[in-house]
Amino acid sequence: MTYLAASSSELTGGNMWVCGALCRARAPAQLGQRLLPESSRRRPDAASFSASAEASRVRALVYGHHGDPAKVVELKNLELAAVGGSDVHVKMLAAPINPSDINMIQGNYGLLPQLPAVGGNEGVGQVIAVGSSVTGVKPGDWVIPANPGLGTWRTEAVFGEEELITVPSDIPLQSAATLGVNPCTAYRMLMDFERLQPGDSVIQNASNSGVGQAVIQIAAALGLRTINVLRDRPDLQKLTDRLKNLGADHVVTEEELRKA
Ligand SMILES: NC(=O)c1ccc[n+]([C@@H]2O[C@H](COP(=O)([O-])OP(=O)(O)OC[C@H]3O[C@@H](n4cnc5c(N)ncnc54)[C@H](OP(=O)(O)O)[C@@H]3O)[C@@H](O)[C@H]2O)c1
Repeated sequence: MTYLAASSSELTGGNMWVCGALCRARAPAQLGQRLLPESSRRRPDAASFSASAEASRVRALVYGHHGDPAKVVELKNLELAAVGGSDVHVKMLAAPINPSDINMIQGNYGLLPQLPAVGGNEGVGQVIAVGSSVTGVKPGDWVIPANPGLGTWRTEAVFGEEELITVPSDIPLQSAATLGVNPCTAYRMLMDFERLQPGDSVIQNASNSGVGQAVIQIAAALGLRTINVLRDRPDLQKLTDRLKNLGADHVVTEEELRKA
């Protein structure tokens, strides 16, 4: 299940939306977050992080050590770096909480950032300003992280142009914010292991997962048929209908799959 962190205008009610305030920045006064294999992590470098005591334009969800996210993640004010020649000033529009974001904070994910770090690996932002040598993006563009570890749970940040990918701004905000992980994983699963042809069939379990729903939609667009396995649940028909609306050909429970 993916929950979105939205811009503050969408932060109403007691739902799972949290402040869209997470990412990574470039100047020494900001978070310079790089993903490292767990085995080569460095100790937290206090000099790489500055939480301003005064009200700042940039708010971020930051963790200084690994542990229970509810305990180690704090809302902090950060300073915004100056926009250098190849830099892009981005205002985050929405950023999800992916299960792997939680694992990263807990410290049990394969790739871990230098600490302190801003949480969040995906999301979508709008370009506010660009440096003089930036050619690939312009103010107003929507951008997503090119790689994991950007730290998207923040309101604004200054990133390098090479750290961003432009996406169309006429797609749903939530789709743009969740484009970078699950749909890409689904696409790679469908493309990298077998040479599938239209009319071929793909079977998957956990088909209601974020990845599974992307598999259904991409497969349908490629003319592939999908057999989607679910765990049984009280509202099975509702979920079955939803997956079929996405393009699923068959939806079966694990129990049905085991029957002759
Ligand atoms: N690049 C990558 O390598 C990459 C990227 C993204 C995701 N992933 C992997 O893809 C998978 C899906 O990720 P996601 O974020 O899309 O997941 P998600 O939306 O959080 O959904 C989790 C899914 O797992 C199912 N599930 C949990 N426990 C299960 C069990 N014991 N038996 C059968 N099904 C079970 C859930 O079914 P219920 O609804 O019945 O609970 C649900 O369909 C995960 O394994 C994740 O690690 C890999």
